Amino acid sequence: MDYRDIFLKSTDSTNRVARELGEQGGVHGSGVFADTQTGGRGRLGRAWFSPPGKNLYCSYLVRPDIALAEYPKLTMVAGVAAAQCLQEICTIPVGLKWPNDLYIKSRKCGGILCESSLAPGDSFGVIGIGINCNLSDSDLPEELKDIATSVLIESGVAIDPKKLFVRLRDTLLGAVRDFEKQGFSKILTRWNRFDAFRGTHMTWVREDGKAVAGISLGPDLDGSLVVQDSDGNRHKVISGDVTLAGSVA
Ligand code: BTN
Repeated sequence: MDYRDIFLKSTDSTNRVARELGEQGGVHGSGVFADTQTGGRGRLGRAWFSPPGKNLYCSYLVRPDIALAEYPKLTMVAGVAAAQCLQEICTIPVGLKWPNDLYIKSRKCGGILCESSLAPGDSFGVIGIGINCNLSDSDLPEELKDIATSVLIESGVAIDPKKLFVRLRDTLLGAVRDFEKQGFSKILTRWNRFDAFRGTHMTWVREDGKAVAGISLGPDLDGSLVVQDSDGNRHKVISGDVTLAGSVA
């Protein structure tokens, strides 16, 4: 396939570069890889820790054959692909936390930031993936030590980020194809196999800033997370942050 990949020593954010690639007509599946990011972006406006050389920072441009309303589900499609690919490589269980945080044991080792440009007839998605590959504990800043980890720390497997970039694209584009052909329910079934938090107590912070506690019942067919509070009421979490109860980040 004739991908036009871009390899950079340093950039502010591979998502920003991939969006430009999309605006310039880049082909489905093309990727942007950087050794380091000076303004790596996480979900909910957070910064993404992006030190040089040791991790994967990349973004893929996708032009899926789906309705515009289905674009938000790409984030879970990407989660399934990343978890599957990572688990094959490191051979220890990898979990997902809704919507698409990658977990090994009880700490986060990767995250996904999906963005889209939804002009009818010329729409595209940008799937940005960051995976902590070869960090050691001492590389992690104090504020991340308890919540973040890397594949090397947990499995002892050292990963070449560039090789992972290529392999991950294959898995991701396969999952996007499955989504196009089979719909979201099959993706959801696969996502559920990686769900590390189903049945656990969660706290979620709604858009209005209010924190509500309950038990995660897992994601729904519309991609939202269903949480049951102590009165038995079910709530759908569409956006906002979900944390383990008692540890609101
Ligand atoms: C999150 O869990 O908050 C999402 C993190 C996504 C980070 C990746 S690193 C490559 C790409 N470029 C960015 O600026 N962000 C994503």
